[in-house]
Amino acid sequence: MEVRRDPRQFLFFIILLLLINSPEPQNPGFNTRSRYDEVIDREWEQLDILNRTIWGDFDAKEKKWLNVTGLREQDAFTWDVLGDVKSRARERMRGVLGERAQGWLDGRNPEGNKETVYRNISGFVQGEWVQSPLSRTRPALDLLNTTGHIHMESQLGEFDRNLTGSHGMVRLHLTEVDGRQRTDDNRTTSELKAKVVIGDADSWGDNWWEFSLNGVHYPEFGGAVLTTTSERFAGIFALPHLQLSPHLYTSSQELLNRTIHQTIQNQLERPFPVWNPWSSAVEGAAEGVMAVSHCEFILYLQEAPVQFLDRHGQPFKQPDVDWLEHEIRYPTGANIPLHSQMAMDMVGFSPDCGFVFESKGPPDFPPSEAMHLLGSKSEEFNNDAKRSILAFAVTLAVQLMFIIRQAKEAATPSTRNRISFYTIAMMALGDGFMFLALVFLHLFLGTSQLQLYTIAFLALFSVVLELRFLMDIWTVQVTEQMRQDRQQASTTPPSPQPPSTPNPPATTPRAPPPSSDTLPVPATAAQPQTTPTPSPPVILAPDQDDPADNEPLLPTTNNPTPTTPTTTSLRAELGALYSRYCFLLIVTFFITLQFTTMRSTARAFYFNTLCFLYLSFWLPQIYRNIMRNCRKALRWDFVLGQSLVRLVPIAYFYAVEGNILFSRTDLQGLAVLAGWLWLQIVVLAAQEVLGSRFFVPPSWAPPAYDYHPVLREDEEGATMPIGASAPLTEEESAESRSKGRKVFDCSICATDIEVPVIPAGGGGPDVQGLGGLTLQRRAYMVTPCRHIFHTACLEGWMRYRLQCPNCREVLPPL
Ligand SMILES: *[C@@H]1O[C@H](CO)[C@@H](O)[C@H](O)[C@H]1NC(C)=O
Ligand SMILES: *[C@@H]1O[C@H](CO)[C@@H](O)[C@H](O)[C@H]1NC(C)=O
Ligand SMILES: *[C@@H]1O[C@H](CO)[C@@H](O)[C@H](O)[C@H]1NC(C)=O
Ligand SMILES: *[C@@H]1O[C@H](CO)[C@@H](O)[C@H](O)[C@H]1NC(C)=O
Ligand SMILES: *[C@@H]1O[C@H](CO)[C@@H](O)[C@H](O)[C@H]1NC(C)=O
Ligand SMILES: *[C@@H]1O[C@H](CO)[C@@H](O)[C@H](O)[C@H]1NC(C)=O
Ligand SMILES: *[C@@H]1O[C@H](CO)[C@@H](O)[C@H](O)[C@H]1NC(C)=O
Ligand SMILES: [Zn+2]
Ligand SMILES: [Zn+2]
Repeated sequence: MEVRRDPRQFLFFIILLLLINSPEPQNPGFNTRSRYDEVIDREWEQLDILNRTIWGDFDAKEKKWLNVTGLREQDAFTWDVLGDVKSRARERMRGVLGERAQGWLDGRNPEGNKETVYRNISGFVQGEWVQSPLSRTRPALDLLNTTGHIHMESQLGEFDRNLTGSHGMVRLHLTEVDGRQRTDDNRTTSELKAKVVIGDADSWGDNWWEFSLNGVHYPEFGGAVLTTTSERFAGIFALPHLQLSPHLYTSSQELLNRTIHQTIQNQLERPFPVWNPWSSAVEGAAEGVMAVSHCEFILYLQEAPVQFLDRHGQPFKQPDVDWLEHEIRYPTGANIPLHSQMAMDMVGFSPDCGFVFESKGPPDFPPSEAMHLLGSKSEEFNNDAKRSILAFAVTLAVQLMFIIRQAKEAATPSTRNRISFYTIAMMALGDGFMFLALVFLHLFLGTSQLQLYTIAFLALFSVVLELRFLMDIWTVQVTEQMRQDRQQASTTPPSPQPPSTPNPPATTPRAPPPSSDTLPVPATAAQPQTTPTPSPPVILAPDQDDPADNEPLLPTTNNPTPTTPTTTSLRAELGALYSRYCFLLIVTFFITLQFTTMRSTARAFYFNTLCFLYLSFWLPQIYRNIMRNCRKALRWDFVLGQSLVRLVPIAYFYAVEGNILFSRTDLQGLAVLAGWLWLQIVVLAAQEVLGSRFFVPPSWAPPAYDYHPVLREDEEGATMPIGASAPLTEEESAESRSKGRKVFDCSICATDIEVPVIPAGGGGPDVQGLGGLTLQRRAYMVTPCRHIFHTACLEGWMRYRLQCPNCREVLPPL
């Protein structure tokens, strides 16, 4: 019997995945050193040009070119648009700052008269961009021919990051590193780094790109200019020439002269080559020989002044932004007034691909539609993230509580037998996935690590509990399966196949162990008459556990205890089960990681499918209820609680704008998911009330014993339950007979049961339609040995023993 998979296979698989995911190593070739020196020399040369040139030395319209990569005439970039783009950026700046904008451009504004903008714009802003009428599209071949950088990959295709659609989403993550050398004495200019995530809604599959830019920020009035730098475009060296005014040219030249000098020095001191310290590739992605050519970007940003708001969202007083920023960063407990979000205007331009785009908002679009780019400072974002993480911890704790309660409730074999293995397995997979995701999440967030690890621990704890519960369930169900197989083998002696080999679960989730078809025939069918000797009643209160039941085997009198070989094979199978769990978990996780970098449509499709599959966790339980004709598998607080608690994190990512992963909201998708979960709960509830097979034709499901038969009176009394109590008087008897009722004795609680009976001569009892009868039938239960009990009495009993309390015959599970 093949039970255990070689664990080395696993390890191999994981290493393979890690190799696939890791960036290609840049193996130094034999002439690497000389090439590296060339790169450094070229950088010094370009820095010298930056040092020497003055405003107006670069002007494509007047055929003035610079010997800087990308700014030469033969590079054939669309620099003639630059003048119009700059005008547009100045116009947007005037739109935000009003008349004072010109003062800032010329450096005429008096010292100390700063705008009410954040000095430190570390944080994020997001919104929509629209294509500007200034755009020109350039064919890729045109560019490749002139620059001579003909890559094998891009010869056929187009450039990466080619924004040709009319609109899309954009998000900027801005970082201002702390430290004196990166800014000037009075902090009027400082270095800025930005990561851009930009999507093109009109591209195939809603493509998006992620890259980083470097540039300068003017904290006094909130302006910033950013650019990409690559082999084809030495953007950072050209940055002063991209500024909006001679004054800004000078200040940025001074800063860059210094910072670039330092960067090149650092580059020289590094033990391994850093080819491009201003690379636009985000960490982890390789840029070099393998990289596809991409369009270059230049961004003009202008931050909008911060406003303090009153309760109605109206600005009400002159804000003290320096105090606000300090309080946000180093809270002293002061009451932070309500203030507007961090807001920015953006004008973007690609000098090689030729497109121009702007953030969407007033005055070209109504404020109701879009308000340029909105976001928050990183401290505020981190606080929000911490709060979400805390809320998530609470849901995890609640989830844990429900699991523990359910596991306690299902402490006996017969209750465990009803619970679907796959329902709990799906939940455990979900929690395991959560655990892995939480451990990896700090890569995306870069913050709140301690909280994340604490919650990851909580998730791990939840997984361990669920696995433990799964093991209990599985042991009981396999033992039950083996018992039924043995029974079948003993009733049908010439069995064609070798009997009693427990089915090893298949690699993929498959149907639960099929319930055997050796269930006792319904009591309503005629049975050979057994001598109705009243068996001595077993005295055992229904809420008391029998110590004999603590072993996870069904205590049946006619079954021998399992021999040692079955126990060891059981353990081996359990081991296989665990490795299968880990395997499935890790594979799903890596596939998910791959999908996070795919085009938006594919990504949305994958995550919707994943969530849908995950939220189908009640489906196996519904199936098991049908196959075994049982109803009371799980507590209702467990069903409702788990549904809610597991929906909450998904709802957060589907519904909350600006959530910690910046996932796009999708209320429709959320409605579908919630509806699907709700539908499953409704089916479970209906199964409880109407019987577990109410919606499937009888022929679809295997025969199962019906504990709630319709009782029919016949002449021999062969199908009636044994032991109708003798009517006290003739009169009473006649009365109850005319009503179509009979009175029996429940030996568990020792009181009477009055049940409806269809008289032999036809003519139904006074039932209020079929539904009335259905509900009345739920009040009593008839065992295969034709003893009758109250439903509540026998169900309580059967949680501990699957034996008739009267005659000790084996009962089919509920
Ligand atoms: C910049 O130019 C000045 C002369 O104008 C020169 O002394 C200095 O070394 C140059 N700096 C760099 C980094 O080239
Ligand atoms: C531009 O720089 C390159 C590389 O250093 C040099 O070979 C070339 O002569 C320069 N061109 C001009 C016009 O100065
Ligand atoms: C950008 O896309 C447009 C439209 O698909 C195409 O015509 C153009 O050649 C592309 N440009 C580059 C540089 O790939
Ligand atoms: C490059 O473009 C020029 C015209 O600008 C053309 O004559 C030449 O054939 C092109 N070369 C290639 C390799 O396409
Ligand atoms: C700006 O704020 C961030 C977040 O608190 C901080 O890490 C960074 O050092 C600050 N930068 C400056 C220049 O103060
Ligand atoms: C910084 O400000 C002082 C006055 O407050 C001024 O004298 C000095 O020139 C300024 N330095 C720079 C680099 O702008
Ligand atoms: C650039 O820096 C050097 C010192 O490294 C300095 O001599 C020179 O004047 C600076 N140039 C400009 C334009 O600021
Ligand atoms: Zn009873
Ligand atoms: Zn019995």
